[in-house]
Amino acid sequence: MILHHTFKDQLNLPDYIISEIEFYKNNSFQDKNEELYKKFNFIGYKDRILKKNGQEYPSTKSDRTPLNGQSQAWVKANICKEFSECSYSSTFPTSQSHGPHTDITRLWLLMYIVDAGGEQVENCFWRQKGYDFLRLENKPVVVCDYSELELVESVQFPVRTWVLFNTKVLHSVENINRARISIQIGVNDLNHLHQSFLDKIEKIKKL
Ligand SMILES: [Fe+2]
Repeated sequence: MILHHTFKDQLNLPDYIISEIEFYKNNSFQDKNEELYKKFNFIGYKDRILKKNGQEYPSTKSDRTPLNGQSQAWVKANICKEFSECSYSSTFPTSQSHGPHTDITRLWLLMYIVDAGGEQVENCFWRQKGYDFLRLENKPVVVCDYSELELVESVQFPVRTWVLFNTKVLHSVENINRARISIQIGVNDLNHLHQSFLDKIEKIKKL
């Protein structure tokens, strides 16, 4: 199973997507997933208290809003033919951690990090003690107490590069100390990725 993959040598974003990112950096917007959290009765995802190394502190909150039609068309033509979402995402540094969770809106996340949110930011992948690594329950999973977790891998994803990771493995973002900005493409079938991306994954499978 591929946990994560970094795609090198990919296309740069067109100017109109860069302009749209700048717009959302400078203007507030409503998180489009608020209704979804209510639908899944996922109370506690955004307002949870994390326990780590004897300390308690809140998790950060990410807000996402869809890119406009022109930007989504470019993503469809160049990155991924079908997706569950194509969003601008911002995470404000209200605390250092976006706590461990699985995603509810996608099996895979194809992410283009514009600003990682700090020099020491790490994407961490976890296994909850006593559970399978891959969490295929029909509901989102959240773990607030890090003592229940074993670190599987931590990685510093490069900025301005497309990276893919499996969102059904518990994951968190650590050491955030400024706004974390990314473009997020929700993918439920890797075969929808553009051929140039698929070729790279196939190469890895054959190794
Ligand atoms: Fe996530």
